[in-house]
Amino acid sequence: MATLLVTGGAGFIGSNFVHRVLERTDSSVIVLDAMTYAANEASLAGLPADRFRLVRGSVCDADLVDALVAEADAVVHFAAESHNDNSLEDPYPFVDTNIVGTFTLLQAIRRHGTRLHHISTDEVYGDLALDDPSRFTPTTRYNPSSPYSASKASSDMLVRAWARSYGVAATISNCSNNYGPRQHVEKFIPRQITNIIDGLRPRLYGAGLNVRDWIHVDDHNAAVWTILEHGTPGETYLIGADGEMNNRDVIAMILELMGEPADAVDHVNDRPGHDLRYAIDSSKLRAELGWAPHYTSFRDGLRATIDWYRGHEEWWRPMKRATEAGYARRGQ
Ligand code: NAD
Ligand code: DAU
Repeated sequence: MATLLVTGGAGFIGSNFVHRVLERTDSSVIVLDAMTYAANEASLAGLPADRFRLVRGSVCDADLVDALVAEADAVVHFAAESHNDNSLEDPYPFVDTNIVGTFTLLQAIRRHGTRLHHISTDEVYGDLALDDPSRFTPTTRYNPSSPYSASKASSDMLVRAWARSYGVAATISNCSNNYGPRQHVEKFIPRQITNIIDGLRPRLYGAGLNVRDWIHVDDHNAAVWTILEHGTPGETYLIGADGEMNNRDVIAMILELMGEPADAVDHVNDRPGHDLRYAIDSSKLRAELGWAPHYTSFRDGLRATIDWYRGHEEWWRPMKRATEAGYARRGQ
């Protein structure tokens, strides 16, 4: 992979991917990022200038996208509006970036015959009941609940159609909830860690029984690289690390690791349409491509993540006040 175009590379997962690729391979990386509120240029600090370039622009800009795809040997498409709560307030940017942006990229990729890996989410499958023993597989029916997950489901459908009808060499991965360094403080785990650092209490939506299937961001990105190198075009791979846990238990673990009392939690308004449970069966990825997660202890990964937020206040401080003001407006 001589030159990679990474869309959304200034966001949480994309920036961790770029660091990983530049540390572990000889590839060059071009990041295309619109630098929305979710991006942080500090996440790209210290990268080698001779192999890395940041281009500020949108995946919806057809001329810019065409010119950058022409330079690349492969494209990894992370760019998206990613937060469910925001999509409930204003779905427009989700339709624009996640659907129109993916379409724009696919058209350029089709013209240039470039390899694509499309990053998607387990939320396209909707949710499972808490007592349902089954997990999502690559053949589970799409059934998205929120504007965010519906826009990601739409983008997956476009990629599948372009692969089948135009022969675009595309793979798709659907991953569960990521945690780790450089995640925006609007998301569940960094919000609670930075609340506690600020002397605020964690905020639990509703009763807190909703289950998420947690995976460390480095394990997600290791899987993406494996699929890029060894995946079969046209195929979908589910990425997950058997990390199911309900939100109440995650907060209890954060409180314990940060030396706070177990009951120091505020219950706040629930998310409308809140998905109950996600659970990934990643056996296809493990069996066919030999991937396995490195972070087998969620507790250890969480402890390292808490340490990262304690040690990088300058990274998250500028976004904290506006984020909490938005939540306060919604009673969350
Ligand atoms: P993020 O919100 O942290 O980062 C998204 C990045 O995309 C930001 O840098 C933003 O500026 C950029 N972006 C937004 N609109 C753009 C546009 N029009 N053109 C170019 N760049 C634009 O998101 P994340 O959590 O890193 O998620 C990355 C991808 O992974 C998304 O596609 C998301 O759906 C998917 N995903 C996320 C998770 C998770 O747990 N966070 C799990 C599975 C899949
Ligand atoms: O499953 C993959 C998805 O995971 C990704 O596609 C999304 O981009 C990513 O944002 C994430 O979606 P969730 O909605 O699951 O993540 P979020 O961090 O917003 O919330 C996780 C759970 O925690 C969810 O059940 C809502 C709850 N929650 C969230 C916040 C911010 C709380 O209880 N309190 C909070 O303060």
